Amino acid sequence: MINGVTYSDTLLKLSGVNKSLGGEPILRNVDWEIKDLHRPGFTQGQVVGLLGPSGVGKTTLFRLLAGLDQPDSGTILVEKEGIPVQRGTVGVVAQDYPLFAHRTVLGNLQVAGRQGGLGGTELRDRAQSLLTRFGMTDHGAKYPAQLSGGQRQRVAIAQQFMCGEHFLLMDEPFSGLDMLASQRVSSFIQEMAQSDELKTFILVTHDIAAALQVADSVVLLGRDRDAAGNAIPGARIQASYNLVERDLCWRDGITTTPEFLKLLQEIREIFPRL
Ligand SMILES: Nc1ncnc2c1ncn2[C@@H]1O[C@H](COP(=O)(O)OP(=O)(O)O)[C@@H](O)[C@H]1O
Ligand SMILES: [Mg+2]
Repeated sequence: MINGVTYSDTLLKLSGVNKSLGGEPILRNVDWEIKDLHRPGFTQGQVVGLLGPSGVGKTTLFRLLAGLDQPDSGTILVEKEGIPVQRGTVGVVAQDYPLFAHRTVLGNLQVAGRQGGLGGTELRDRAQSLLTRFGMTDHGAKYPAQLSGGQRQRVAIAQQFMCGEHFLLMDEPFSGLDMLASQRVSSFIQEMAQSDELKTFILVTHDIAAALQVADSVVLLGRDRDAAGNAIPGARIQASYNLVERDLCWRDGITTTPEFLKLLQEIREIFPRL
């Protein structure tokens, strides 16, 4: 394997997951497994992209992964012990970065830390050190309304670091951001994935290029087609791409290589049929 990478324990395992909304199947028989990645000589976390066109069922799956909704049938287990996922097991950054409007940035971090069981000086120190790490030291006393979208997103991610979850799920982390802001978020996610506290990012997105740029593996969520080419209701994982094996991560200039552009094109062609 390239870079000496190996995979071991199962971190997340979905088996036969079904979910209908309003009587319509949205997810059908979703099987998906994420294994722990090891890269010799590095503290290397994972960035997994869950890609699919709008309306295919990504947010529905996101809510199940977050434990915010329950599947109609099938299981979603976390960690090698195989514990059913529950609300709070994984960190969640929703699409609109909800923060407490009446609390400052620092206050928002402290609320998250308290929910995670921290208190006293430990709570304050951790919040302060996260502000520094997220380049937000000048903004600690500001209220959410005084922040840009990108800054709100940082605070929402920092909140998840306060409670020290192993997983961080993000729904459409690039939406509403311009190219530069989107690239900042990508580098930031990669940097965070190499920190030791929080190791697995699952990014749910319809942005193929952004996902390929930041992820070390991506899966496609989509529907099957009948013989006449019509979509059968209910999406499942249709394909998965390991970017480590393709040597398409962790080095500079990847996005302009022919291999990267070829994969981007390939997925762009599949997308309309998902
Ligand atoms: N509460 C609901 N009741 C009925 N249908 C829903 C509900 N929520 C979402 N849907 C439908 O489920 C499908 C998938 O939605 P969603 O998971 O939000 O897609 P995505 O995030 O991939 O854009 C869409 O067709 C949407 O209209
Ligand atoms: Mg969505």
